[in-house]
Amino acid sequence: MSRAHGSPPTRDPRVAFFDRQAPTWDRTGPDPDATMRRLRELDGRLGLKAGLDLLEVGCGTGQITGWLASTVRPGRVVAVDFSEGMLAQARARGVDAEFVLLDICGDEPFEGSFDRVLCFHSFPHFRDQAGALRRMARHLKPGGQLLVLHLAGSSQLNAFHQSVGGAVGHDHLPPAARWPALLRPVGLEVREAVDRADLFLLKAEAGARGGTMSGGAFFAWKGGGCDRSVSACQMSQPESARWPSCWAWAWIRTAINALRPGRTLRSLAARRRPMST
Ligand SMILES: C[S@@+](CC[C@H](N)C(=O)[O-])C[C@H]1O[C@@H](n2cnc3c(N)ncnc32)[C@H](O)[C@@H]1O
Repeated sequence: MSRAHGSPPTRDPRVAFFDRQAPTWDRTGPDPDATMRRLRELDGRLGLKAGLDLLEVGCGTGQITGWLASTVRPGRVVAVDFSEGMLAQARARGVDAEFVLLDICGDEPFEGSFDRVLCFHSFPHFRDQAGALRRMARHLKPGGQLLVLHLAGSSQLNAFHQSVGGAVGHDHLPPAARWPALLRPVGLEVREAVDRADLFLLKAEAGARGGTMSGGAFFAWKGGGCDRSVSACQMSQPESARWPSCWAWAWIRTAINALRPGRTLRSLAARRRPMST
């Protein structure tokens, strides 16, 4: 199954880079057999099991997508990538997954929430890592986990990308110590972080309300000049995924404008409907 989501960004030189790599990736990239051997060894540690819905971000030629699909079945796998070339190879495998053309740093999120979001050998290439984390967090169900996985450590990978140069020469995997600060703004907490020469594994969990967008949406309950009539609503995932953040900020401005001077905006977290206060 496949569908296009957005148009691939033409300004990110990595799209052309990975399109060029796509036809030969399974021969010139990491050895697929060795990769699968390592993944099977790590299997229990990754916490993937039957029934989980999984989003794979940066699936490339789908080297591991079939394995993911058979591991989580009857859960579903949606595999996304911004390189049409990579996706064409992945779709040709005929595995039981939905392949979607999507730029995790640019496209608005699509419908869907997942128990796991997995970035396998892809995170360093996301040109806007904070934006990618925000979008991925929105796709997590409450209690869901983000997994960032590499079969090498951050220093090894960063040195490797530097040696490759070109479009990916500055692509960078933040070392384990930096992740708590990267994840806090998107409502995720580190559960496990391994960063050694042969493995990078970052597991982070969404709170009870799922990964949230920062801020939330605020609604003005009445017209201008109100004393206490501004009310607020913080949407949880997956609602927030359907509300572009610019809408949330427009509502916040409306709510502030509706107040008399000297009154402050009050936030009622976890309310699903506007309420007068
Ligand atoms: C090094 S390849 C790894 C592919 C695959 N995971 C594997 O292990 O064979 C990185 C992949 O991430 C994809 N990618 C990079 N930036 C992306 C973005 N902003 N949105 C979606 N995919 C992206 C690339 O197109 C590429 O297929």
